[in-house]
Amino acid sequence: MKPLRLAVVGFGRVGQICAELISQSHDLSLAAIVRRAVSASGKLPETLRSVPVITHFGQARDLDAALLCVPTNAVAEIAAQILQHGIPIVDCVLLHGEALEAHKQVIHKAAVHHRAAAIVGAGWDPGALSVFRSWFALLTPGGATETRHHTGISLRHMAMARTVVGVKDALCAEVRAPDRSLQRYVYVELQKGADPDKIAHAIRADPLFLGEDTQVFPVESLAELEEEGRGVVLDRRGPPGRFGHQHLLLEARFDDTVLTAQVMLAAARAIPQLEAGAYVLPEVSLTALWGERAEKAQREWL
Ligand SMILES: NC(=O)c1ccc[n+]([C@@H]2O[C@H](COP(=O)([O-])OP(=O)(O)OC[C@H]3O[C@@H](n4cnc5c(N)ncnc54)[C@H](OP(=O)(O)O)[C@@H]3O)[C@@H](O)[C@H]2O)c1
Repeated sequence: MKPLRLAVVGFGRVGQICAELISQSHDLSLAAIVRRAVSASGKLPETLRSVPVITHFGQARDLDAALLCVPTNAVAEIAAQILQHGIPIVDCVLLHGEALEAHKQVIHKAAVHHRAAAIVGAGWDPGALSVFRSWFALLTPGGATETRHHTGISLRHMAMARTVVGVKDALCAEVRAPDRSLQRYVYVELQKGADPDKIAHAIRADPLFLGEDTQVFPVESLAELEEEGRGVVLDRRGPPGRFGHQHLLLEARFDDTVLTAQVMLAAARAIPQLEAGAYVLPEVSLTALWGERAEKAQREWL
């Protein structure tokens, strides 16, 4: 299959990572980087030097989609200009709930008028995290979700956990839940062959943690964890009842710029399969997001 020809609009943090990821992929090609006139003469990294930099969409040829990596308040206007050329768009606006729905409606009108598809809010949050949130709620109707962002979480070494057999080292963070109760996240680097469940049980059973809400997360490298600043815990509890307690937990540490760029690329792969109009990520099928790798992904993940 011919690679999809994409343009990256705005060469800031998200735009630069999108451009690099596209240039490393086999099924996507970077046809142009669209920049404001003030920054168009700026130097590109060595790996992107052959990519044309343009300042107007009229200069772009045969594009399959444009990835809008510009500030949220500039997206609607730029999207309208691009859609006018019949070019599909993907954006990752930082809008949620009704504000995102209103943005989608505006883009939808223009997209239908110009017969092009658009995926809006296709980043980490909104975007992939919205899909996880939605699935958690779907699996536990009537339950409650807590989302705790731990930006710049402070971690301290934990002598006690190092005494547990199989633990190389451990870091502990204390977080206040919305009801002000104390929660502890214990991140453990394990020795080869150690059993994570047994270790989690041993840590929770220690008198230091008894009666406290303690979550234990095995990690590859504590050194890397200490360098990371951002994370989220999505915690969903189903309602009590005769079906028992369901408790779903997503703990993630990440660079939201990188994850946002990955979601934008996936959305671009889905664009050729969509009718004209605007969509948010949960409306796009996973199969479409995998693009030409859909069959392989189905075999691997189903
Ligand atoms: N959904 C999510 O989870 C998520 C996560 C992170 C970011 N985002 C969104 O992604 C977008 C990009 O974020 P970023 O961190 O890459 O921002 P950034 O580093 O500030 O880059 C934005 C780029 O857009 C261009 N730009 C700046 N002002 C502009 C204007 N008034 N009109 C048109 N273009 C303008 C500039 O590129 P040139 O100099 O090349 O023109 C600038 O480098 C934002 O909308 C942000 O909210 C979403």
